[in-house]
Amino acid sequence: MTDSAISTRLIIRQPDDWHVHLRDGEMLEAVAEYTARQFARAIVMPNLAPPVTTVDAANSYRDRIKAATGTNFTPLMTCYLTDNIDPAEVVLGFGKGVFTACKLYPANATTNSSHGVTNIQNIYPVLEAMQRIGMPLLVHGEVTDVDIDIFDREAVFIERILSKVIADFPDLKVVFEHITTAEAVEFVDGSGTNIAATITPHHLAFNRNAIFQGGIRPHYYCLPVAKREKHRLALRQAATSGSEKYFLGTDSAPHLSDDKESSCGCAGLFNAPYALESYTQTFEEESALDKLEAFASENGPRFYGLALNDTRVVLEKLDNQAAKEFQTDSGPVIPFLADETLSWKFAGFEH
Ligand code: NCD
Ligand code: ZN
Repeated sequence: MTDSAISTRLIIRQPDDWHVHLRDGEMLEAVAEYTARQFARAIVMPNLAPPVTTVDAANSYRDRIKAATGTNFTPLMTCYLTDNIDPAEVVLGFGKGVFTACKLYPANATTNSSHGVTNIQNIYPVLEAMQRIGMPLLVHGEVTDVDIDIFDREAVFIERILSKVIADFPDLKVVFEHITTAEAVEFVDGSGTNIAATITPHHLAFNRNAIFQGGIRPHYYCLPVAKREKHRLALRQAATSGSEKYFLGTDSAPHLSDDKESSCGCAGLFNAPYALESYTQTFEEESALDKLEAFASENGPRFYGLALNDTRVVLEKLDNQAAKEFQTDSGPVIPFLADETLSWKFAGFEH
């Protein structure tokens, strides 16, 4: 092989996705394979309707996911925290290996979060138990107050809620999910090793202008909403810095295109089909391909106390035309990067 041929292949330990919405029913059937083909494991969000709040519900959801993906993929289940969540159920589920973590949605922060927590004090008994047993808390970090500007909701959440939770539970493991601001990066960098964050491919790739480029573009709308350019640059710096605190979490959140292209469109991007390619492109642009494996495949399992994957995957540098849409029985879903030409292609496993 010539040097240039060698440089067109990148082989890394197989990654995991530490934040994904796999949905249920026919949407699960339609989307799960795109996660399972590239990721060995994924932290599966519990915001179904109704949400996953019991060990039984998590067990049966896990079975439905496995039926859709086959046995090579391991879904790691999460428990949706409500005001009335029973700490004993959470502890039981963690002890049995059914729940890997708990998810905090502030009430009404995002899709299917109406059962979320209305006041953080309401879940203090559960946080106490989680700190004791070493169970991670995954946080959707946005306040929901209508008087707070939507672009400030993450920064205000840090000030009002997250700082207090961490002060009150100094040993609690916390993943600040899908961070979107320089303030979040600063907060995570300045916290102890028990505080980490996931970063999505889309928040690394575009800023808030993409939502309004020549018209309103619902397929770029997600929560937390993309912020201004200086924040995107801070995220890119954090992801590619080599810090063990940051790891891959796609927040792939499919909605039917009709539900997004609407007078009140749903938040969420379906990025699973091209997630790894998109991250790779970002790391290449930042001259940090040597840091991709740690971000995608090592920092996450280390934070969760899980083994690293033994398998390796291959990425090839070549023009890769992304699909315009994916079909479900109820209509199409438009993916992130639809119809664009990507510069990398996931090429399966190393043999
Ligand atoms: C997610 C969804 O659709 O479930 N939407 C999103 O914009 N990310 C919920 C969430 O993670 O906020
Ligand atoms: Zn999410």
